[in-house]
Amino acid sequence: MSEPMLIQILTLFPEMFEGPFNHSILKRAQEQQLIEFRFVNYRDFTYDKHRMVDDTPYGGGSGMVLKPEPIYRALQAAKAVKPDATVILLTPQGEVFKQERARQLATRRHLILICGHYEGFDERIRAWVDLELSIGDYVLTGGELAAMVVSDAVARLVPGVLGSENSAVHDSFTEDLLDYPQYTRPFEFNGMKVPEVLLSGHHAQIEAWRRKQALKRTAERRPDLFQKLVLTKEDQRLLEEE
Ligand code: 6GU
Repeated sequence: MSEPMLIQILTLFPEMFEGPFNHSILKRAQEQQLIEFRFVNYRDFTYDKHRMVDDTPYGGGSGMVLKPEPIYRALQAAKAVKPDATVILLTPQGEVFKQERARQLATRRHLILICGHYEGFDERIRAWVDLELSIGDYVLTGGELAAMVVSDAVARLVPGVLGSENSAVHDSFTEDLLDYPQYTRPFEFNGMKVPEVLLSGHHAQIEAWRRKQALKRTAERRPDLFQKLVLTKEDQRLLEEE
């Protein structure tokens, strides 16, 4: 058994992670010792009487700014545990997080995720990170939800986590496409029937139908993703038929 990937999350609110990380696939991944999560609270690295983690901004203005020292000390503690960890800062100013980055991070040995909160953090913490990530163009109250999203997307790509060593689930050939339509029983529901091909038992025909549906859906709904795809001759044929 190889060493589990350790994801250390630096946050003022470790309790926020209890729900998402203790259910379903992430729970199983930890039980199987494929991934381990640990939380480091900046508050535990304050040495003043009031355990202050934030302060007013130089230059004035509204809101509070996370102080650099507690974050720096918390990061040093996390790096002492895993000196080879990749350090990631969650911020709306970071690179927009995509599947390709999730795939790359899943190959890293360990991760340290730094969550900002409140109105912001002291600019100097940027000097200590390898990568800044945003999960999209909207504003969250803090980096915690973003850290959960990144953790989930990376964890499912760690070998063994999805149960199958079957690389198909991690394959960019399928993961860079929207899903094909799925059906289960009953055959007819509210007058709507399941496509006949799915009942045919014809494995190759079913695969071709699914591939075609996934390609068509991606082309229609996400032209931005579609134009990045490298289509095979067979894909082109599927898109041209009927
Ligand atoms: Cl990483 N943090 C915050 N506060 N807001 C965000 C975000 C991160 N990504 C998108 N919006």
